[in-house]
Amino acid sequence: MAKTLKNNKLAVLTSGGDASGMNACIRTVVRYGMAQGFEMYGVRHGYSGLVRDEIIPMPYSSVSNCVHAGGTILRTSRCPEFKDKEVMKKAVDNLLNRGIENLIVIGGDGSFRGVQDIHDFTELNVIGIPGTIDNDMGYTDYTIGFDTACNTVIDAILKLRDTITSHDRIMILEVMGRMSGNIALNSAVAGGAEYVIVPEAPADVDEIAKSVKRGFDKGKTSTIILLAEGKNYLKDELLQKVAAETNRRVNHMALGYMQRGGNPTMSDRVLASRMAQRAVDLIQCGQSGRVVGVRGGDIYDTTVAEALSLPKEFDQKLYDLAIVISK
Ligand code: ADP
Ligand code: F6P
Repeated sequence: MAKTLKNNKLAVLTSGGDASGMNACIRTVVRYGMAQGFEMYGVRHGYSGLVRDEIIPMPYSSVSNCVHAGGTILRTSRCPEFKDKEVMKKAVDNLLNRGIENLIVIGGDGSFRGVQDIHDFTELNVIGIPGTIDNDMGYTDYTIGFDTACNTVIDAILKLRDTITSHDRIMILEVMGRMSGNIALNSAVAGGAEYVIVPEAPADVDEIAKSVKRGFDKGKTSTIILLAEGKNYLKDELLQKVAAETNRRVNHMALGYMQRGGNPTMSDRVLASRMAQRAVDLIQCGQSGRVVGVRGGDIYDTTVAEALSLPKEFDQKLYDLAIVISK
């Protein structure tokens, strides 16, 4: 949706949970933006930094040597007060007072609600890029950071497999994702976990316990159950029932913030760069209130309203396959 064509000053910020690949995204926004004639700025610490007027110039060299790095060189934050329209408008004034009329926000669905508000209630032209490990946004096949997080989980599965096989044990590995089972499901398939429990599908703990027992009876030497954060209330029941059924030691481990860090994979770096390019192109066309996504390998954009309204479709086919190939 076009407001009016804005000036050539463009700022970028990262918001919400950091995700590997955000730096590759910032780098392309800055360098491609400069190549299109924009004067580039960064806002440090996400929306909190916007409230506090933490706005810095971003010359070409400000993004040197960061394409490989996890986290975000601009820092990030969760800023509950940004939901207050008056706080939000005053924060945006910090950009407008410097003559910066364009903003690119890299973050998850919470950050996109901020994009919607900025678009609806201020003069700024604003575009969103999806950066979150959770891959929980319905309008895009992938978000920046998801692939790297899954590869971290897969690496953990491999290492845990060594030790639990040595001891004939069972491991419940809890992974992030808020109410999305995407990290758990994809990592289970790629890493060879025996069971995956996700919020999008029912889980029968009694049946899982019996099935784990049958597996050991048939000669299995270890079992990994991937438990998505959105179903972690089943942890104690799982620990108790699987141990009782198998008479073996069952350990639980939450992989936690490890999943957010580390060098981004090639996929995340390239996705981040392609999305950044589209975001700058949209700004250059005077667009606002739109977000960038990827569908079937193609970069596209849609309204932030549509992006926020589409639920993430659960990949039932992949889940069914995981069940067939895992035990
Ligand atoms: P993510 O963007 O990764 O989903 P959050 O849900 O924490 O992370 O959202 C990031 C930030 O976006 C919040 O700290 C807040 O500043 C802003 N935000 C979240 N929800 C809203 C909302 N309903 N309206 C305006 N801004 C919001
Ligand atoms: O949204 C990314 C994420 O890592 C979720 O998977 C997790 O539930 C949450 O952020 C943790 O947030 P915080 O950094 O506030 O503990």
